[in-house]
Amino acid sequence: MREIRVGLIGFGTVGSGTAEVLRMQATRLRRKTGADIRLVRVADLNLTKLPREHAGVELTRDAEQVLTAPDLDIVVELIGGIEPAKTFILQAIAQGKHVVTANKALISQHGREIFTAAATKNVEVGFEASVGGGIPVIKALKEGLVANRIESIVGIMNGTSNYILNRMTDEGLDFATVLKDAQAHGYAEADPRYDIEGIDAAHKLVILMSIAYGAHVRLDQVSTEGISQIEPIDIEFAREFGYRIKLLAISRNHGDSYEARVHPTMISNQELLANIGGAFNAIRFTGDTVGDVLLYGQGAGKMPTGSAVVSDIVDIARNIINGAVNRVPSLGYRSENLREVEITPLDRLRCPYYFRVTVQNKPGVLAVITGILGKHGISIQSVLQQGRDKQGVVPVMMRVYEAREDAVRAALAKIDALDVCAAPTVKIRMITS
Ligand code: HSE
Repeated sequence: MREIRVGLIGFGTVGSGTAEVLRMQATRLRRKTGADIRLVRVADLNLTKLPREHAGVELTRDAEQVLTAPDLDIVVELIGGIEPAKTFILQAIAQGKHVVTANKALISQHGREIFTAAATKNVEVGFEASVGGGIPVIKALKEGLVANRIESIVGIMNGTSNYILNRMTDEGLDFATVLKDAQAHGYAEADPRYDIEGIDAAHKLVILMSIAYGAHVRLDQVSTEGISQIEPIDIEFAREFGYRIKLLAISRNHGDSYEARVHPTMISNQELLANIGGAFNAIRFTGDTVGDVLLYGQGAGKMPTGSAVVSDIVDIARNIINGAVNRVPSLGYRSENLREVEITPLDRLRCPYYFRVTVQNKPGVLAVITGILGKHGISIQSVLQQGRDKQGVVPVMMRVYEAREDAVRAALAKIDALDVCAAPTVKIRMITS
């Protein structure tokens, strides 16, 4: 039986999950592929021995023994971060090894260099686990939806922020309390700002846009806002109108340009995306031939992410066995057909908005604010002053009809500059479908 030999760098949560999935599914994978896919060597700086069930797998502290070892076919990088992961991956490729990684930060920022190096050496780079944890979202987009022009991508791509918003919504807890709990559950990135400031979701959106549109998309082209300014009162207001607040990553295809944005969004609770609980992820693609496709599942965690990593290992093993390496290009499009693209400026966005202005509680203040909104062509749908007056200051919540982002920014800049305004206005975009 053909043997496919795998080396793994990083035996943390995802690394140990990958080893476990390979071990648990060994017989099934042999039946499916006709090959013995064997984890041969693990490199990890923090381990002195591997768990007993992985007896027979070598352990080293030296990554070189995986990267340059002539006896390995596939190198799996699961240490995360940019360096030394990038150097390791390029080194493995230079040695003619196929690579599998879950590293969304690296693929979203250095994917072009890595894919070019891999194409030159005719090896594959699998990165299914970089988006949506255990959900086979990349394979679905590259292969299952190949016969579509992708019209939009809308998704909950960060489990930590979804977990935080859900607990704030369901239990009325405040942001800081729930963040601590999310960290204790181990969903959060090493630096939780990546989760709560929307950066992790932006990494994932860049990867999906690149595949969906066959394009070079840069991280700095994504407008990114996080959830740290959301307060229970915003969630309560949304609930009263049948909405929930979600951190959504959104890209819409306008033909000559593409939206690229991550921000808290009020979404009708009639929508499936509004009802994604816990730390789950859900990603909706709209294709011109298929219509809507919603993929839902665990976006993080040891075994789900291990499942995605192993799916890449198996794909590569099958391609090696069948002499079909690079059957499907890294981004689904042939590299010579990848394009630079225009990103739609956020200022051109039109949608309904929610505002929370924090102002002094005295006569005439609301008239000034509504006057400014009116001058900028922004029409109010509803207003609510609720909550305690704290030292003469109150929050006023408003819902406005569809307006252009540049008009909203200009109006809020004027409102925030008023003497009666005690804190910057919080704005949340609303999505209707
Ligand atoms: N920190 C990420 C999340 C893990 O919360 O979704 C998976 O990328």
